[in-house]
Amino acid sequence: MLLVGTETSDDAAVYRISEELAMIQTVDFFTPIADDPYTFGQIAAANALSDVYAMGGEPKLALNIAAFPNCLDPSILGEILAGGADKVLEAGAVLAGGHTIQDEEPKYGLCVTGFVNPKNLWKNYGAEDGDLLILTKPLGSGIMNTAVKGGLACTEETAYAVRVMSTLNKYARDVAKEFRIHSCTDVTGFGLAGHALEMAEGSGKTLVIDTEKLPVMKGVSEYAQMGLIPAGAYRNREYAGARVDSRVDGSWIEDVVYDPQTSGGLLLAVHPEDVPELLNQLSGLEIPSACIGKVVEKQEKLLVLE
Ligand code: CO
Ligand code: CO
Repeated sequence: MLLVGTETSDDAAVYRISEELAMIQTVDFFTPIADDPYTFGQIAAANALSDVYAMGGEPKLALNIAAFPNCLDPSILGEILAGGADKVLEAGAVLAGGHTIQDEEPKYGLCVTGFVNPKNLWKNYGAEDGDLLILTKPLGSGIMNTAVKGGLACTEETAYAVRVMSTLNKYARDVAKEFRIHSCTDVTGFGLAGHALEMAEGSGKTLVIDTEKLPVMKGVSEYAQMGLIPAGAYRNREYAGARVDSRVDGSWIEDVVYDPQTSGGLLLAVHPEDVPELLNQLSGLEIPSACIGKVVEKQEKLLVLE
């Protein structure tokens, strides 16, 4: 029986096999976002695996999906695939083949199958009044990628953004699964605003985000204020706009809220009593998490930025 399909725009499809077992299936791939092919492979794989973690699941099987032009050295494709394979290994899953087609621009990603006990399934709805919101990676990867392409980002900032994007959401998920998580999604192309709105809409609640608490990558504030905003951020703003009540109108942090993320963190709605210990345990991870807001009764606007 299909437990999660397309209606709620969730991170992956979920199919119940038995009382105790459900299969999670997802596919994601994109064009290069890093100069180094091995790094690109790592980021694309971490991003694809993330949708399984966002459902509270464990990835088990992955297949490569790739496109590559004839005119490029095939060793580059080899490096992309090696980066992906290493991430799949780190995830504890098995890479069992895949498919490559010839195309003008390289593309890479994974089709991933994972498993979860249906009782422990995290959906992108189900957030309750009083829940606190936790985000497990800093924001700003879209703005950083724009700064990197413009030749403005320094080596240290670029390396940090790469580290954040290539980190598996496995570690945050492994910690969070011991707590009362009412809803979860990962923050990717629609930006924090878009994914928070999906959670708010599906849950029938309003999400209030305290923008002062948002974790942001180094350099992002400066580049956002210079106007290095990716086109996707404007599209996200336009799409979300009417459902957002922004009290930080015109501030650079708004651009961060709409910034499309590559392999972003998990957004968790958590029982408030569990939050101090959850944050304490998340603080032991390499990438910083933060409590960024709360869930309240549904208001006129589904997302409040304050
Ligand atoms: Co997702
Ligand atoms: Co996805």
